[in-house]
Amino acid sequence: MTELVQPVRRAAPDAPLYRDAMARVASAVHIVTTVGPGGRIGLTATAVASVSDTPPTVLVSIARPSRTLAVIEASGVFCINTLPGGCEDLAEIFASRRGIDGEARFASRHWSSLATGAPVLAEAVAAFDCRLVAAHDIATHRVLIGEVVGLGGAGAQPAGATSLIYRGRRFEAV
Ligand SMILES: Cc1cc2nc3c(=O)[nH]c(=O)nc-3n(C[C@H](O)[C@H](O)[C@H](O)COP(=O)(O)O)c2cc1C
Repeated sequence: MTELVQPVRRAAPDAPLYRDAMARVASAVHIVTTVGPGGRIGLTATAVASVSDTPPTVLVSIARPSRTLAVIEASGVFCINTLPGGCEDLAEIFASRRGIDGEARFASRHWSSLATGAPVLAEAVAAFDCRLVAAHDIATHRVLIGEVVGLGGAGAQPAGATSLIYRGRRFEAV
């Protein structure tokens, strides 16, 4: 007779254990940007994923107190700029770790824009220019769904080009 394997029951992990597990996962680092009456604004985010290619659709999960979130919801547009290696400083600036806010965050690099007007980083590995099509509140965050209406960034990457990842609570170029 086949023995039934009993599933091991464990208590749901608390937030610190969850964060430690997630810290072991390598994630691409992005700057999510938009523009409003107060000018350009953006934040560093790793909670970004592709949803579909037909139509091209992405998601980003943003903490509800974020100042950038409020501007994205008002403008209805955002751009996901995926960072190359060498942009650790930019990731720190847009994560509010350098005491630099608003327009001043954009001063150290070249930015342009596509159809939506959201800032596009010239040296981005890829930039996904999006129209906001849906938003869902989940726990402490708001998950934004964007239809990709334009692509930008540096284009085809030369041999040896690197991407910026976050792993073990550190930035690395891979
Ligand atoms: C590596 C890294 C990844 C991050 N990923 C996210 C993310 O996916 N979503 C989010 O809401 N905040 C994320 N943050 C935190 C925001 O960048 C940070 O709270 C920022 O200051 C928000 O800026 P704002 O209030 O000007 O929008 C991340 C920070 C770091 C350093």
